[in-house]
Amino acid sequence: MKVIVGTQEEVVAQASQRYVNLLAAKPDAVLGLATGSTPLSLYAELARLCAAGELSFAECSTFNLDEYIGLDGTNEQSYRYFMDHNLFSKVDIKMERTHVPSGFVKDDAEAAQYDALIDEAGGIDLQLLGIGNNGHIGFNEPLTPFTSVTHIVKLTDSTREANKRFFSSLDEVPTHAVTMGIHTVMKARSINLLAFGEAKAEIIKKTVEGRPDIAVPASLLQLHEDVTLYLDRAAAAKLS
Ligand code: GLP
Repeated sequence: MKVIVGTQEEVVAQASQRYVNLLAAKPDAVLGLATGSTPLSLYAELARLCAAGELSFAECSTFNLDEYIGLDGTNEQSYRYFMDHNLFSKVDIKMERTHVPSGFVKDDAEAAQYDALIDEAGGIDLQLLGIGNNGHIGFNEPLTPFTSVTHIVKLTDSTREANKRFFSSLDEVPTHAVTMGIHTVMKARSINLLAFGEAKAEIIKKTVEGRPDIAVPASLLQLHEDVTLYLDRAAAAKLS
């Protein structure tokens, strides 16, 4: 794993450059995207660069990691709404080339069709990830099988608790989500993981310095050949 540490502004500038370079070399690249508070500063910078004419999303396609079961794109807590609002409406992307898993899939077989869609698009060139406090990536909670493809998950109490800040009460946080699996993520040609703030320091240490273990899903990224972690100093504080 390559680890880049700096101020949030510095590492976001470096991560953004990856998109500038990739989209210049391959305008029809396939991007894997993430939600949560962490990618917001990156999305703001990508929107700024796009407005400045330094990059274009016009030919690319995107696949988001996950979505809450039962929420559609009109719901402000849905990840589709998040993406439309924080990135897609601010750049020159073609909406029909943006994909977010449907929160209305009825079973895992239907959910897994998302992997087929990614494969048909040529596979993900650059997957963006945040990290949950328990090491989840997408919504792959601890002990998710290494071989998992896009599937429905029951969210852990700690994840629902962590995400309740976006909802008016814990009861409103969906109990289930649909997420790309670990295998889906590992198939991406390159992976960027962003983490900011001291609350992520412990899990970043386990991710980078722990043994790869399905108990800490992000630690499995050690087994991928092209992963870069972009960390602010607080998130990197416990690395030796
Ligand atoms: C959610 C998302 C993850 C994200 C995580 C961390 O559970 N499914 O993709 O990485 O939250 O969120 P934040 O960036 O707000 O800390």
